[in-house]
Amino acid sequence: MKTIKNFDLEGQKVIIRCDLNVPMKGGKIIDDNRILESLETLKYATEQGAKVIVLSHLGRVKTKEDKKKYTLRPIADRLNKLLESKVTFVENTKGEEVENAIKQMKPKEIIVLENTRFEDLEGNKESENDKNLAKYWASLGDIFINDAFGTAHRTHASTVGIAKYLPSGIGLLMEREVKQLSKATTKPKKPYVVILGGSKVSDKIDVMKFLCKKADYVLIGGAMAMTFLKAAGFNTGKSSIEKRKIDFCIEMLDKYSNKIVLPIDIVTSTEINKNATPKTRFINEIGEDEIGLDIGPRTIKVFKQYLDDAKTIMWNGPLGYFEIEQFAEGTRQILEIISKTKGTTLIGGGETASAAINMGYQSKLSHISTGGGASLAMLEGKELPALKVIDAKKQKK
Ligand code: 3PG
Repeated sequence: MKTIKNFDLEGQKVIIRCDLNVPMKGGKIIDDNRILESLETLKYATEQGAKVIVLSHLGRVKTKEDKKKYTLRPIADRLNKLLESKVTFVENTKGEEVENAIKQMKPKEIIVLENTRFEDLEGNKESENDKNLAKYWASLGDIFINDAFGTAHRTHASTVGIAKYLPSGIGLLMEREVKQLSKATTKPKKPYVVILGGSKVSDKIDVMKFLCKKADYVLIGGAMAMTFLKAAGFNTGKSSIEKRKIDFCIEMLDKYSNKIVLPIDIVTSTEINKNATPKTRFINEIGEDEIGLDIGPRTIKVFKQYLDDAKTIMWNGPLGYFEIEQFAEGTRQILEIISKTKGTTLIGGGETASAAINMGYQSKLSHISTGGGASLAMLEGKELPALKVIDAKKQKK
């Protein structure tokens, strides 16, 4: 697949689609990981003498009031601080102001246009991949580079539509994400161990089906483990159980009994808040009024035995309610264990990624994906539309 490095960028107007969709609170950025991960491609393009036009979405824009909440201005300001190049924010997605700003650009400068999803306010033009909008955005540049891995599972005007009208390639973050995550989806080095957590079995059905075939072992934790334990016949107290997924769990436990590893003990409590008192229970001891909130110390030891020898580890979904310290130990200990293995360690999914980063493991793992839904789609073995459109162009030539 063509990457940004296959183009001569000097003096060219290069449209770079980033995923700068970062969590915000009261107009402030609360986690800038996706911004930091986007810098490499932006720096590369400016160093090559490109005039860079950045497109990104932020949040889901449904009403006019959302415009205030989801303006890209604070993100453009952050980029301006982080990059040597001058970064200018243009508070429109199209029109005269945008066109004039681009006309006046000098090489090595960057402009950030307003949130592409502002175009959803009149007929979902961005999210439904409106052809005219895609053509218009394409008319602003000479080359299109898609570096928005987090949005690669969407078919939007600024990701898929635009690529049809310009010479296109992928950015350095997108290239890294695909290369690393492919290690878990195509010919992983064995033993290959998958860790699945998070709250819902229903979010992980396709991933489980796909990865159970590829992996040697699938270790299950998080709230979803409680549904599996229920399916295996244990009392799960007041834990939230997905009753409709019990049959699916039974089917998986039957089919992959030699691969699926469930917790043997659980940290429980009768309440979920920062004052909650944790109790460690064997899985046959969970009380009627208790909620399973983390994997227990014996489970960590069992998981360790599988993880120590693994050559590839893929982890999606936290193993406990890690936002509350009393229930963060399972996630933290498993991060510690995998950070010491010699194999490839891959983390996918927004929550697992933020746990790994906040607990200080970013530099100790092979790869932490910036994609939530996109990494899940890849792990389900699905083709990502944003990549498909760029790959299809190459084949036509
Ligand atoms: C994400 O955060 O997963 C991506 O930015 C895509 O956002 P979306 O789910 O709102 O399309």
